[in-house]
Amino acid sequence: MIDLHCHLLPGVDDGAVNDADSIVLFKQAIADGITHMVLTPHVHPGRYENNRTNLQAPFVRLQALLAEHNLDINIAIAGEVRLSAEVLSMFATKNLPFIGKFRGKDVMLLEFPHDGIPPGSDKLVDWLMQRDILPIIAHPERNKAIMRDINKVGPFLERGCLFQLTAMSVTGKFGEKAHEIAHRFLSNGWTTIIASDAHNMKHRPPVLSEAYECIETQYSADLARQLFIDTPAEIIQLP
Ligand SMILES: [Fe+2]
Repeated sequence: MIDLHCHLLPGVDDGAVNDADSIVLFKQAIADGITHMVLTPHVHPGRYENNRTNLQAPFVRLQALLAEHNLDINIAIAGEVRLSAEVLSMFATKNLPFIGKFRGKDVMLLEFPHDGIPPGSDKLVDWLMQRDILPIIAHPERNKAIMRDINKVGPFLERGCLFQLTAMSVTGKFGEKAHEIAHRFLSNGWTTIIASDAHNMKHRPPVLSEAYECIETQYSADLARQLFIDTPAEIIQLP
């Protein structure tokens, strides 16, 4: 399986705290059957000052660390970009991180604030699309506005945004409401990929297999393959 959203790069956000922590998380991911991970630290101006350029050095360091520990997993670096005015300046300085490509556009993992969708978010999406950047909305099923009214997702569906559900929402571990909304995304055919959004071993581990089984049982083996393997492989352009 391929995980396109996780916080395993140590020391840069609220995910893996240090090298030892990161190693434990990668071991768990490998044991779960994850073969590729795109690391997506928070790119959240004012909170986590990460960007495409300054994440390179810690990423290269991590690659060496994994090799040292003989951990057999393919990793790449991107980011989870918080919706903010700074997106415009990060674009100008070529500092927006992309997780891959889809339909000829650069794919950017875009996160709304958890408590709602700020006015003008649709305009920012238009602005990105005009620049050949295709947002994949991170965990819409956990956004309070969408949890209250699923129709709030309409403007983003209309614009052709992609959607990433979190594995633990699919299995019900993020509560009943997130579970219900996740399955409405699934039955409506709105889901592009499912990812772990892993942060730590205790509450948010890098585990996809449980959600994979859930999709296989409740929907189909084909859909599971599409959401966890085929579409993420297409986005990261695996041969
Ligand atoms: Fe995340």
